[in-house]
Amino acid sequence: MTNEEKIIDVKKIVEERKETLKSKIDTLKAKNIFPKLCVIVANNEEASRSYVKNKRKVCEELGIIYEDYFLKENVTNDDILKLISSLNNDNSVHGILVQLPLFKHLNENVILEKISEKKDVDGLTINNLGKLFISNNYILPCTPKGIISILESVGETFEGKHAVIVGRSNIVGKPIAQLLLNKNCTVTICHSKTKQLEKYTKDADILVVAAGIPHMITRDMVKENSTIIDVGINRVNGKIIGDVDTESVLSVAKFVTKVPGGVGLTTVLSLAENIIELIEKE
Ligand code: GUN
Repeated sequence: MTNEEKIIDVKKIVEERKETLKSKIDTLKAKNIFPKLCVIVANNEEASRSYVKNKRKVCEELGIIYEDYFLKENVTNDDILKLISSLNNDNSVHGILVQLPLFKHLNENVILEKISEKKDVDGLTINNLGKLFISNNYILPCTPKGIISILESVGETFEGKHAVIVGRSNIVGKPIAQLLLNKNCTVTICHSKTKQLEKYTKDADILVVAAGIPHMITRDMVKENSTIIDVGINRVNGKIIGDVDTESVLSVAKFVTKVPGGVGLTTVLSLAENIIELIEKE
């Protein structure tokens, strides 16, 4: 296999999923159901602006109505809870997403929990995350869902494989660990306090890196023939790079995702899929 062939063509995977989704959206529209997503942004992060711009672009391309609420720094928890409450009660809204992170003075747990379970397009409410833990995938967090779709698309098998996750966020690390566990992988979660990280990564058949540290994973840290999923999005000297030094690991790994043009593409598509799933579950 050439190095070129080892880089997973996520764009192609996403295009295929888009076609399936478009026909589902057309079916809904024929029944006078017009899928609608509302996104709340309460931070001043440059990266968030770019993520939500992308969400808008993909939604509009697919024919999903997209609305965003950019809130100022003086916004209170109460203001956001009221906004979510009105969106929960609005029958024209099918999905609500609170872009993370939030301004420091806001209470993320309380805010996310206010989202109706039936409109929780990110799958981050306690009920939806809890269902994941008992193997009932009601609605899956977008990045983990996208990662599984990538792994399945390249024909990865799961049973008995050692999956190592670097990063323990609620939005990626913990849910992807649980999804892989549900698929009968043996799962290890590593994080910033893990000693001798390479001891674990070197034994990973499937390595998922979501640590936010540019190029932290290098060739000497990965297993021969492994599949490596890079979730990192780091801006270094004006360039976006991942947590994995792709060029370096290519000589050892079987499959690698690249950044940009990797996991990020599937995250947005999973979001669009989740909106439609929520409507279909009604
Ligand atoms: N911040 C970065 N990625 C995401 C995402 O997928 N969902 C939310 N809610 N916040 C994010």
